[in-house]
Amino acid sequence: MTRQPEPHPSGARPPVIPAELVPNHVAIVMDGNGRWARARGLSRTEGHKAGEAQLMEVVKGCIEIGVRHLSAYVFSTENWRRSAGEVRFLMGYSRETIRHRRVEMNELGVKVQWAGRKPRLWRSVLHELEAAEQLTTGNDVLTLTMCVNYGGRAEIADAARAIARDAVAGLIDPKKVDEKMLAHYLYVPDMPDVDLFIRSSGEQRFSNFLLWESTYAEMVFLDKLFPDFDRRDLWGACEIYASRDRRFGGVKTEGPGGAGQESA
Ligand code: IPE
Ligand code: IPE
Ligand code: MG
Repeated sequence: MTRQPEPHPSGARPPVIPAELVPNHVAIVMDGNGRWARARGLSRTEGHKAGEAQLMEVVKGCIEIGVRHLSAYVFSTENWRRSAGEVRFLMGYSRETIRHRRVEMNELGVKVQWAGRKPRLWRSVLHELEAAEQLTTGNDVLTLTMCVNYGGRAEIADAARAIARDAVAGLIDPKKVDEKMLAHYLYVPDMPDVDLFIRSSGEQRFSNFLLWESTYAEMVFLDKLFPDFDRRDLWGACEIYASRDRRFGGVKTEGPGGAGQESA
């Protein structure tokens, strides 16, 4: 049986936003664990531990406000550049987190899936991700994509390689390669475009996250470090999102039909 998330300890409730202005797909770059730890004289690994519970906060906040897809940047293809010790910690810690959280995710009706590149990713991490996928496959309250060993350029390059392979094998006609087909070859073929792209910690960059999928995402950068981030911050970002004017390259006019009507 699916259960509702317990409310935030403060008693805060999600803001009332018209359903059509709630983002369908939120992507989050969970950044700032190291700085949070440094400010307290702690090791970077302590920062990662402190950030772990906050992902559950974001998951619960998404469910409460009605977001249907959440993509979380857990480990990038560039994070291998960190010290061997930190990489080892992040891999091991991701593995334990996925194992410990999957029952709770399942109870909340969360469907967990993985996006990323297989080479280099620890087999034990992949194994836990697959177990979580299997356990939660029938859920539909929220789809959580854990992006582990994920890179936006790697994803597009891997899609290009698969398309070239299928073209050489005669399975597809190179003349038919277009955006729609390329999107079909991405790690999660049916992933909807990102509506709201959030990054904590004050940094204002993509860092190679969901490049293809975020083409028309609204960007919201928050100064909080991820261990201090909770569902109220997510809701604040949703309110900013709801106030934005999305045009997708078109033009909107304010005519007799009312504000926001698309011009011909
Ligand atoms: C985000 O926090 C976690 C990962 C990238 C895995 P950081 O470790 O990047 O923290 P800062 O940016 O150094 O503060
Ligand atoms: C992006 O953060 C990766 C994750 C949060 C997993 P980074 O901390 O690695 O990005 P940069 O190095 O500041 O661009
Ligand atoms: Mg960082």
